[in-house]
Amino acid sequence: MLRVYGGMIALALAGPVAAQQRLGEVQAPRAPEQVYAKVCGYCHGRNVGPILLGRHLPAETVKYVARHGQNGMPAFRPTEVTPAELDALAAWIAAAPARKEEHGQ
Ligand code: HEC
Repeated sequence: MLRVYGGMIALALAGPVAAQQRLGEVQAPRAPEQVYAKVCGYCHGRNVGPILLGRHLPAETVKYVARHGQNGMPAFRPTEVTPAELDALAAWIAAAPARKEEHGQ
């Protein structure tokens, strides 16, 4: 009887922990505007690096520079910006209109 009881506690503890790990691994991709504001907008549009929005840069160029970096710009790993997020971000940047509030070099 005691053994069965102990097993039930172990099961009860394993449930929430496993659910939490799954949540941590499979995060919903962030929207392109969010990634831009949080990651790229730290520099671009704030006088560090060239303006990106409104220039219709090819999505392939945006992806390449984001993954490899370029001179003063760091490369971003798939753990920082996932492949799905980068695909959406690059397409969004390629199509985005210019923003008056942005400043660049
Ligand atoms: C720490 C500042 C910083 C961050 C953060 C940053 N960049 Fe840059 N980026 C730069 C700088 C500086 C350059 C200019 C590099 C050079 O002189 O060649 C640049 C250049 C670029 C270019 C080339 C533009 C051109 O006119 O040829 C692209 C595309 C680009 N960045 C995309 C991104 C994207 C997408 C993100 C977000 C995932 C991002 N950058 C985040 C600083 C940054």
